[in-house]
Amino acid sequence: MAQPTSSLRYDPISRALHWLTAIAATAAFMLGPDGFGRLMHEGVDPGTRLDIVWHESLGLLVFALTLLRLLWVALRPGKPHFDMPAGMRVLALLVHGALWALLLALPLTALLALGSESHPLTLLGGVRVEQLPWIAGSPLGEAADWGDVHGWLGDALMWLAGLHAAGALYHHFARRDGVLAAMLPWRTGR
Ligand code: HEM
Ligand code: HEM
Repeated sequence: MAQPTSSLRYDPISRALHWLTAIAATAAFMLGPDGFGRLMHEGVDPGTRLDIVWHESLGLLVFALTLLRLLWVALRPGKPHFDMPAGMRVLALLVHGALWALLLALPLTALLALGSESHPLTLLGGVRVEQLPWIAGSPLGEAADWGDVHGWLGDALMWLAGLHAAGALYHHFARRDGVLAAMLPWRTGR
C-alpha cells in the first residue's frame, strides 16, 4: 500500500508515464480531424486513412499507459506532499479524478462507437480487427451515439488538461511551491 514520502519529486516512473500520456493524448486529439465520424458513416475505409490509424493507435496507447499508471499509483512508494489551502487541495483532487475518468472513458467510448456502428478497429502495423461483435446489437451499444459522446469527451479532456496545466503554472510562478518542479522530467535546482 502506498505510504506518504517526504520526497520533493514524483518518482521517475510516475513522471515518465505522465508526460508520455500527455504527449500521446494531445497527438491523438490533433489527429482526430473534423468530420471523422462523418467519413466513417460515408463508408470510407478507416484503414486507408493514416490520420485515423494514428488516432486509434495513439488512443489505445493512452489507454495502456493509463492502466499501467493506475497500477503504479497503487504500488509506488508514495508521492510528494505540499502545503496548500484545503479548497485548492479539493480542486486538485477533483481535476485529477476527472482526468483519470476521461483517460479511461475515451478508449471505452471509442470501442463502443466502432462496435455499435460495425466499423473495424485499424491500428499501425496493419493490425485490423474487423468486428467487435460483443458490442454490435448489445443494449449498451445502442444506448447512445457513442461516436458523438467520444468526440465530446475528447474535447473535455483537452479543456480540462489546459485548466490543469494553467493550475501547474500558477503553482510555479505565483505560489512558488514546487508542485510543477515535482512533475517536470528534469531537475530545477529546488
Ligand atoms: C486520448 C485519447 C483520445 C482522444 C483525445 C480522442 C479524441 C477524439 C475526438 C475529439 C474525436 C472527434 C473528431 C471529430 O469528428 O471532430 C474523436 C473521434 C473518434 N475517435 Fe477518438 N480520441 C481518443 C482515443 C480514441 C481511441 C482509443 C480510438 C479507437 C480505438 C478512437 C477512435 C475514434 C473514432 C472511431 C472516432 C469517430 C467517432 C464517430 O463520430 O463515429 N479514439 N476522437
Ligand atoms: C493531456 C495532458 C495531461 C493529462 C491527461 C494529465 C494528467 C495528470 C494526472 C492524472 C495527474 C495525477 C498524477 C499522479 O498522481 O501520478 C497529473 C499530475 C500533474 N500534472 Fe498533469 N496532465 C496533463 C498535462 C500536464 C501539463 C501540460 C502540465 C504542466 C504544465 C502538467 C502538470 C502536472 C503536475 C505538476 C502534476 C502534479 C500535481 C500534484 O501533485 O498535485 N500536466 N496530471
